[in-house]
Amino acid sequence: MAATSSVEDQFSFNSSSSSVQELVKEPIKTIPQHYVRLDHRQLVLSAPYGGHPSQMLPIIDMNRFVPGKDFDAELEKLHSTCKDWGFFQLVNHGVNSSILKEVKEEVEGFYKLPLEEKMKYKMREGDAEGYGNIERDEGKLDWADRFLMTTNPIHKRKPHLFPELPSSLRNTLESYILEVQSLGKKLLLLMAEALKMEEREMTECFEDGMQSLRMTYYPPCPQPELVMGITPHSDCSLITILHQLNGVDGLHIYKDGVWFPISFLPNALVVNVGDNLEIFSNGMYRSIEHKVVPNAEKERMSVAFFINPKFEVGVGPSPSLINPQNPPLFKRFSLGQYVKGFFSQKLNGKSYLQHIRIADNGEDKSA
Ligand code: OGA
Ligand code: NI
Repeated sequence: MAATSSVEDQFSFNSSSSSVQELVKEPIKTIPQHYVRLDHRQLVLSAPYGGHPSQMLPIIDMNRFVPGKDFDAELEKLHSTCKDWGFFQLVNHGVNSSILKEVKEEVEGFYKLPLEEKMKYKMREGDAEGYGNIERDEGKLDWADRFLMTTNPIHKRKPHLFPELPSSLRNTLESYILEVQSLGKKLLLLMAEALKMEEREMTECFEDGMQSLRMTYYPPCPQPELVMGITPHSDCSLITILHQLNGVDGLHIYKDGVWFPISFLPNALVVNVGDNLEIFSNGMYRSIEHKVVPNAEKERMSVAFFINPKFEVGVGPSPSLINPQNPPLFKRFSLGQYVKGFFSQKLNGKSYLQHIRIADNGEDKSA
């Protein structure tokens, strides 16, 4: 297999360079058809249209992970939250607040650049990295402009993307990446402990793994119920760390058959379990479907950092968790194979994870 530098660039898709940010520069009366998404679940269940109040995400406090009584209680909370929610907000996360502020200012600054400056980084044919949008089913587009880049391993950074960013943005992201990498490592080791998994297995899984970063700009939308800021999906990662830059909510998660809009504390980071951790934990932790609904009046910006396993190495249920009482629920896959299959199916909730699940009778479901 040819070496690739993104977890998402192994499939062919159509990218689009039509910027939603440019579209809304002049007030628009009707939403162009290629943004209109009549997703049944969105219209019927999504709050506020379905009447569900905004839900505060469970809080995990990193300060409580110090030896003693708090440690055990917080570890248990982390464990049950990853099982029941697959999503939490993290406080006292240790990422310097001045860096968070700089990331906000720099990403805002990037999206304020003239279109021709941003187009220097535009997605190239067949590559999900870069600035632009991706066509979903039937040519529909999300209501967002986004910029995805592989950041680790460093030699997999595309030469025309990260290294060519304006230097202040690049330096800020570089500092931010160091902080979220170290936070991600702490979290994954805590999760290994909570799962009673051998620490070495977890370390071998994420060390020198693929990491990528997505900066997204969601322009205000006069009829948010008609569009998707980001199509419902689960992340392919082990974990994702999200920084909601300007405090505008919009993230929804699919829990107990309902789309919940979620809100979180201003300085919190949001962490979610991705498909690869669901597989690695043998289904103990859940990768939850999520989507973004844009705001009617305000722009929204976010930076998502994806921590993945190594590209070439297989991911399957952690051997230390498997025994006759707990047989493997998933087949072993390399991240490369996973991503290829994942994207060949279009973005459709969690359908691909189901595809590699081993049925109750031990049969391979994809056969
Ligand atoms: C993603 C994602 C959510 C957000 O980039 O995978 O789910 O709030 N982003 O931007
Ligand atoms: Ni996501």
